[in-house]
Amino acid sequence: MLPLLIACLYLSKVTFTLGLVQISQPIGANGSVTFLAVGDWGRKGAYNQSAVAHVMGEVGAKQGIDFVVSTGDNFYEDGLTGINDPAFAQSFSRIYTAKSLQKPWYSGFVHIFFVDTIPFLNHYFGKNEEANKMNWKGILPREKYISNLLKDLKSAIRSSNATWKIVVGHHPIRSIGFHGDTKELLHQLLPILQANKIPMYINGHEHCLEHISNIGTPVEFLTTGGGSMAWRNVTHYERYKKNLKFYHDGQGFITVQLTKSEAKVTFYDGQGKTLHSFKLNAANNIKAQ
Ligand SMILES: *[C@@H]1O[C@H](CO)[C@@H](O)[C@H](O)[C@H]1NC(C)=O
Ligand SMILES: *[C@@H]1O[C@H](CO)[C@@H](O)[C@H](O)[C@H]1NC(C)=O
Ligand SMILES: *[C@@H]1O[C@H](CO)[C@@H](O)[C@H](O)[C@H]1NC(C)=O
Ligand SMILES: *[C@@H]1O[C@H](CO)[C@@H](O)[C@H](O)[C@H]1NC(C)=O
Repeated sequence: MLPLLIACLYLSKVTFTLGLVQISQPIGANGSVTFLAVGDWGRKGAYNQSAVAHVMGEVGAKQGIDFVVSTGDNFYEDGLTGINDPAFAQSFSRIYTAKSLQKPWYSGFVHIFFVDTIPFLNHYFGKNEEANKMNWKGILPREKYISNLLKDLKSAIRSSNATWKIVVGHHPIRSIGFHGDTKELLHQLLPILQANKIPMYINGHEHCLEHISNIGTPVEFLTTGGGSMAWRNVTHYERYKKNLKFYHDGQGFITVQLTKSEAKVTFYDGQGKTLHSFKLNAANNIKAQ
């Protein structure tokens, strides 16, 4: 935990608390915005978390990043005293704070929408250990919560004039990793992203890095869940054969550099090596490379 938080604060000069991004200085003064995104890191430095944090520090400094986006799972079981630990509710069952849709981050031409994806998953309402640990205070009744969240998201996206509207959630929509696609999000969230031509959806949950390109839609699916424990060695390559642009079963993170005309996404491994990158053109959202 600590090394990463310090690295983030040091680098980006923004406050970064439990998935909540609070900007504390004006950014994008030179017409560009760069952020780094990482997820699934809360391991008290173990599983290379500290090493990845260190590399994030170097890459972040080099790129002059403006802020850090966390794609969730900021604490794991071992970071908590028990199921009554308030940190659990704050950081796991409610990663993206009390509101269904967190106040989006906005800087003129970049608008980031954080969606709390946890209540969408039937898994967390089933009969299993994880479900038993959930704290649904403020979330129930679930259907109402979800429909309000989707309504808020739609209207926030529609009323935004930003060139780049990016949606961030914890769970993947499409993935070839251990967990795979999230059916609930495919059915409920994806249609909103498609209808509004959202260029990228960024998630964690899978402890790896992935880039799955549009499948009849404008959405690029970016997984950045390699903040600590990784190497799951379960990959379903057959699932998105044609649309899989990149997969790394290991630690790492991504950076997203945005100007009014172009976005560049770069995937780094846990040692800071560039593994994959691609560009999007704002005018038509067509891949430039
Ligand atoms: C940590 O990173 C090193 C270098 O990439 C790798 O060899 C090692 O397996 C990683 N350890 C864990 C626990 O992921
Ligand atoms: C914007 O400024 C940051 C540092 O403040 C720098 O790292 C970055 O390269 C600049 N971007 C452009 C497009 O000039
Ligand atoms: C978006 O643009 C419209 C028309 O130019 C303007 O009326 C509206 O205030 C803008 N909205 C925001 C959130 O800036
Ligand atoms: C990963 O999984 C494959 C297929 O199940 C297996 O052959 C291989 O030995 C595994 N590798 C590791 C490092 O566990």
